[in-house]
Amino acid sequence: MDLKFSIVAASKLVYFEKIGSTNSFLIESAAKNPPEWPDGSVVCAGEQTAGRGRNDRAWESPAGSSLSSSVLIREPIGAAHWYGILLAMALVRSMRNQGVNAGLKWPNDVMVEERKVSGLLGQSAEGFLVIGIGLNLEPVEIADSVSLSELGLSQDYDFQLSRLLTEFHQLRAAYENAGVAAVLDELRSISLTLGRRVRVHTEDGVLEGFVSGIDDQGRLVIEEGKHVVSAGDIVHLRGVD
Ligand code: BTN
Repeated sequence: MDLKFSIVAASKLVYFEKIGSTNSFLIESAAKNPPEWPDGSVVCAGEQTAGRGRNDRAWESPAGSSLSSSVLIREPIGAAHWYGILLAMALVRSMRNQGVNAGLKWPNDVMVEERKVSGLLGQSAEGFLVIGIGLNLEPVEIADSVSLSELGLSQDYDFQLSRLLTEFHQLRAAYENAGVAAVLDELRSISLTLGRRVRVHTEDGVLEGFVSGIDDQGRLVIEEGKHVVSAGDIVHLRGVD
């Protein structure tokens, strides 16, 4: 795989035709041999056989169907979940620059017209963080999903990965230099969840309500503060749901 543009956007870049999980590989490698894996290292793959999704779900990435990539963050600043949000925001920026009106379903699913094009999984380890992203290049057999090819965008791996990484570095620098305030307005403006009625599945149960805000910790504020949710799966409800 020719990744000439992506290589310049990463401190280290390793590509595998096939791997279990880019997240698991990077976590293991970064822990075992820190000097070999500097901050900003990227592991990517054409196929994952044991891809991991949020909430202990499996994540399918058959050969050639998706871009699977993980980024290493050494010494993250602030709460770890911000880095997943920043990578998702980077993809939204990149897709919007290519003319597609992508947005974010809380906390970090990238969607186009209620269909998911990408999911992210952040995993913390001893002193570092790995953020993985799966981006559908070709159609996948998952309900309510969409791919770059269906959206008429380039499925070129290097093109998409290099743009994603470049946007991510900009957002990360803004966040690390100036704090959450530097990205909060943009996060709120691209949120597809803000202003919607949602059903939230949390560890404590299921609740429903109108999303009135995203606070400065990235949490979902429901019914003007009646509930504040920091983790969970959400469903966007339509008028009569
Ligand atoms: C989700 O459930 O929406 C998150 C999916 C995250 C998948 C990516 S693909 C690259 C990286 N490696 C993994 O095993 N998972 C993440």
